[in-house]
Amino acid sequence: MIIVTAASGQLGRLVIQQLMQRVPAAQIVAAVRDVSKVADLAAQGVQVRQADYTDPASLDRALAGASKVLLISSNDLGQRVAQHRNVIDAAARAKVGLLAYTSVLHADTSTLGLAAEHRETEAAILASGLPYTLLRNGWYVENYTGSLGAAIAHGALAGAAADGRIAAAARADYAEAAAIVLASAAAPQAIYELAGDQSFTLTELAAEVSRQTGKQIPYANMPQQAYLDLLLNVGLPPALAQLVADSDARAAHGALDDNSGVLGRLLGRPTQTLEQAVRAALA
Ligand SMILES: NC(=O)c1ccc[n+]([C@@H]2O[C@H](COP(=O)([O-])OP(=O)(O)OC[C@H]3O[C@@H](n4cnc5c(N)ncnc54)[C@H](OP(=O)(O)O)[C@@H]3O)[C@@H](O)[C@H]2O)c1
Repeated sequence: MIIVTAASGQLGRLVIQQLMQRVPAAQIVAAVRDVSKVADLAAQGVQVRQADYTDPASLDRALAGASKVLLISSNDLGQRVAQHRNVIDAAARAKVGLLAYTSVLHADTSTLGLAAEHRETEAAILASGLPYTLLRNGWYVENYTGSLGAAIAHGALAGAAADGRIAAAARADYAEAAAIVLASAAAPQAIYELAGDQSFTLTELAAEVSRQTGKQIPYANMPQQAYLDLLLNVGLPPALAQLVADSDARAAHGALDDNSGVLGRLLGRPTQTLEQAVRAALA
């Protein structure tokens, strides 16, 4: 039994789709806090179990009989370590054969503010004594391509990453990598540093958007505080705006870059290119 937590989220759904291509649906459990969100998965034969990271009893029920668990990190910023500990503790009680966790690229050395919660979670996983795999995911390219509409409307793509190179990859590529690791009969590696094959700067992203739209969309680099103010002005919740502005500013110094090629090798094919990511977002 392979159990995927947060399976109602964007990454979780993609992992389940990829798992269904590799193992029988009846061996897959979608653990979600609101089961009404995944009726479509139940209809395809996936087991659905209710599991809230803040409710240890629900996690014990959800993880019963698990051989492998993928803990997808929560999006509840600031609460994540306590929530993840609840899942790790339940996995230890269930004596699972593998606990995989979606961490962040270079979690041990990362200067990103958001890496602290991932480092603490990784430490808790190691302390649990369970067999583990850390899927250290880099930036989703959708973090940028998801807001191209605003960039096109305003005639500029804003950010604070200066000329920093960003080895982002598609959510779908990270999801496929997770499914490959979970479905494999072979013992997985302990740590995978996962990122796109080709890094890009935000100037290069803006140039690609300009090329594909036929409109001039330059990259407008801003100081971190000004970018934070812009994000707050467009309505991002403060914690998320802080995280995005901090990450962009750290990216200026290489915090989101990687040239290991691990993700592409795991997938057995090149990762999605910037050209493809922009095309998909504009479609
Ligand atoms: N690498 C990157 O660039 C990047 C970018 C954004 C996020 N992330 C991280 O990667 C994770 C997965 O990404 P995503 O795109 O799938 O995010 P997402 O679509 O926001 O999904 C987050 C999931 O977390 C679940 N969740 C939140 N609190 C929970 C709780 N108390 N108990 C159980 N489940 C809970 C949500 O459940 P509901 O469906 O019930 O809301 C949702 O399914 C995020 O949560 C975040 O930690 C990474």
